Amino acid sequence: MWYTVPMNAEELRSKYIEFFKSKSHAQIQGKSLLPDNDPTVLFTTAGMHPLVPYLLGQEHPAGKRLVNYQKCIRTGDIDAVGDNSHLTFFEMLGNWSLGDYFKEEAIRMSYEFLTSAQWLNIDPAKLGVTVFEGDDTVPRDEESAAVWRALGVASVAYRPRADNWWGPAGTTGPCGPDSEMYIDMGKEPCGPDCEPGCSCGKWLEIWNDVFMQYNKSADGLYEPLARRCVDTGMGIERTVTVLNGNKSVYDTEIFAPTIAAIEKAAGYAYGADAEKDRSVRIIADHTRSSTFILGDPKAISPSNVGAGYVLRRLIRRAVRHGRKLGIAGTVLSPVAAIVIEQFSGAYPELAEHRAAIIEELDREEQKFMETLVKGEKEFEKLLPNLLRNQQKIMSGRLAFKLYDTYGFPIELTEELAGEAGLLVNRQEFDEAFRKHQDLSRAGSEQLFKGGLIDQGEMATKYHTATHLLQQALTIVLGPHIAQKGSNITAERMRFDFSHPSPLTADEIKKVEALVNEQIRRDLPVSMEIMDIEEAKKRGARALFGEKYESQVKVYTIGDFSKEVCGGPHVTHTGVLGNFIIQKEQSSSAGIRRIRAILA
Ligand code: ALA
Repeated sequence: MWYTVPMNAEELRSKYIEFFKSKSHAQIQGKSLLPDNDPTVLFTTAGMHPLVPYLLGQEHPAGKRLVNYQKCIRTGDIDAVGDNSHLTFFEMLGNWSLGDYFKEEAIRMSYEFLTSAQWLNIDPAKLGVTVFEGDDTVPRDEESAAVWRALGVASVAYRPRADNWWGPAGTTGPCGPDSEMYIDMGKEPCGPDCEPGCSCGKWLEIWNDVFMQYNKSADGLYEPLARRCVDTGMGIERTVTVLNGNKSVYDTEIFAPTIAAIEKAAGYAYGADAEKDRSVRIIADHTRSSTFILGDPKAISPSNVGAGYVLRRLIRRAVRHGRKLGIAGTVLSPVAAIVIEQFSGAYPELAEHRAAIIEELDREEQKFMETLVKGEKEFEKLLPNLLRNQQKIMSGRLAFKLYDTYGFPIELTEELAGEAGLLVNRQEFDEAFRKHQDLSRAGSEQLFKGGLIDQGEMATKYHTATHLLQQALTIVLGPHIAQKGSNITAERMRFDFSHPSPLTADEIKKVEALVNEQIRRDLPVSMEIMDIEEAKKRGARALFGEKYESQVKVYTIGDFSKEVCGGPHVTHTGVLGNFIIQKEQSSSAGIRRIRAILA
């Protein structure tokens, strides 16, 4: 193996802090997982999150050079958890310059920490980086590329805004081009275009240097920051994976003790079966996240809204996978006890909240077990009938009945249905949910904001209309059309796509008519899960540059459109009504923007 300094998470944490202290950075405390006064996110998603006011210009009491480690949660990829690199909870190491050093010094420090024998001692030949390729608003980042090359890094790839631009999880705030650091994992390249940033598994991203030059305002404008900043984030789990020559984050010492406990409880040897391994990994990941959420100084409980709902979902999903593995007793709390032991050195709040963490987990698990047993039984009963359905669709009313009568969460119904190759009519479920759910208006609005049940009926319709629009544009204007952005509210849709010139009135009319024709044909919308290669083979449209998981959902609209997409969608196009293009304008050079409504 090529690595020379096998290192565990604790050693990596201390080395990082020590290195940046030696470069005059002050260590600051990581913050709560539950952000203060920030309506745009439910959890802290990066080390920069609590630092936003300082990145925007406020003075930080500790100075202009900062370093820390921060607990983070990202649930956007929850369905990908269980593959080699995705986690809902992870630790991020970060260093910041608040108006102090910028690109060159930041990159030089990153390089030194990664490759110097005194620090991580990574072979420079294994290192690849990406830099921003530039667009109409911000030029190509030749400055960063030149610094990397001068340091001797040969693999420097230019990547588009979709990959090499960073801002906080919300829609506004400090942002800028970034330069990401990847390790060559030794796999064969997937093709001639395989370069750092490619998602085939050859390159693993471990660190990101963001050069914050702008503040994105609520109306979407990029305002130059008076003071340029650097924000970096290194993923502890992925870096430990690399330093120890492991294939997956789950194979590291970080997960060894919890996975061993799950193996023992399940009487299963990890590594024997891919599907079971996935369940083991999901339990290990979700229990770790739940433990950290419950152990946060701002502890919250499982609930039906916001962050509490995410917590409930994590716990319940872990319980369900515990059952799949045949674990007879309590699934989460024995694993949580290990997590508390393991991480209390770096996060003393876990030990402080030990009793509450265990108690909450046990209570929620107990409650859910009762639900689960009943719900799964009911689903099994329904299944033979459901499988007879030609379109492979489970009605939203039925899914709602499982929710209403047995408290069976929609995500689990969708998961069980997905495993049987069925699609749940989410729009119908949402309608029923809204009608029956005894939530206060404010409560339910928060729930929608949380992004868990945010697929209101209109948004779902616009989502399907977006697929129709893109296909219609391709037919009318040509195959060069590529999606460059999409934004949906309950009132309208906006779609940005590559095209060199304004659309003529005739072209707009044709596109509109083509979409309306598909609506009148009332085409069925169906979904299948397959690997990304199979999806591409079948001609499904996918976003260029997007990082996909190996298993993806493919939505097919009659004979008209096929796209890789997370959904949800309406079940047939007839419900969309009338499609009207209100505006066609330039978004930036070479990119057009269409605003349309369904009336
Ligand atoms: N905030 C940057 C990231 O999360 C460093 O990638």
